[in-house]
Amino acid sequence: MEEWDEYYHSMHGAYNEAVHVYIQSGLNFWNSNYNLDNTKCRIFEMGFGTGLNTLLSLESANEQNLNIQYETIEPFPLDYQEIKDLNFEPFFNQKKSEALFKKLHLAPWEQTSQINEHFNILKKKTTLSDFNPQTNYDLIYYDAFGSRVQPEMWSEEALLPLIESLAYQGVFVTYSAKGSVRRILESFGLNVFRIQGPPGKREMLRAIRL
Ligand SMILES: C[S@@+](CC[C@H](N)C(=O)[O-])C[C@H]1O[C@@H](n2cnc3c(N)ncnc32)[C@H](O)[C@@H]1O
Repeated sequence: MEEWDEYYHSMHGAYNEAVHVYIQSGLNFWNSNYNLDNTKCRIFEMGFGTGLNTLLSLESANEQNLNIQYETIEPFPLDYQEIKDLNFEPFFNQKKSEALFKKLHLAPWEQTSQINEHFNILKKKTTLSDFNPQTNYDLIYYDAFGSRVQPEMWSEEALLPLIESLAYQGVFVTYSAKGSVRRILESFGLNVFRIQGPPGKREMLRAIRL
């Protein structure tokens, strides 16, 4: 059926983009370049959404024996039934992924939950403008809707508090390759790189505090 083809096509697109932008260019990059003492990785994700980036990070933590402290915000949480209807099964990479995915979704808001021995999560039901970072993050996944839909999310005002919370040798990644975003990140003193984008997109941005 054409609609199903389209649906799976877009799910595959979202999955490939998440793996490339956040896991390979973010988490794996940080882990191989800056995690010299094998400490825990403090991750912030802008926009929890379906929880896909979160699950992929958890799977990586399991695979690479990494400890992750994950914090994310989402003002419009989906309920678990809506998530189930999206049918993520084909994208679960490990035997326990389905159970862990459920655990991530059912974890209460506003408090830290231990998901397994490698991973804890704090989900906050808030907008970015009302969010006040309390941690120095090693990794920021900036996964806001595009600037055509939500231009305010890509402004200096929106980005500054998060950038200020980026640790030394911390890495900021986003699927966006927009020149205005690159200039904002540079104006905050980060080293910004336009790198190979996910399949179907030429470039994306990676910024590092050095
Ligand atoms: C591109 S989606 C993120 C997808 C998600 N990372 C995932 O893995 O499925 C953008 C997310 O930002 C959330 N959002 C919208 N406005 C926001 C705001 N002002 N502050 C924080 N999050 C917002 C949306 O509800 C949506 O879940």
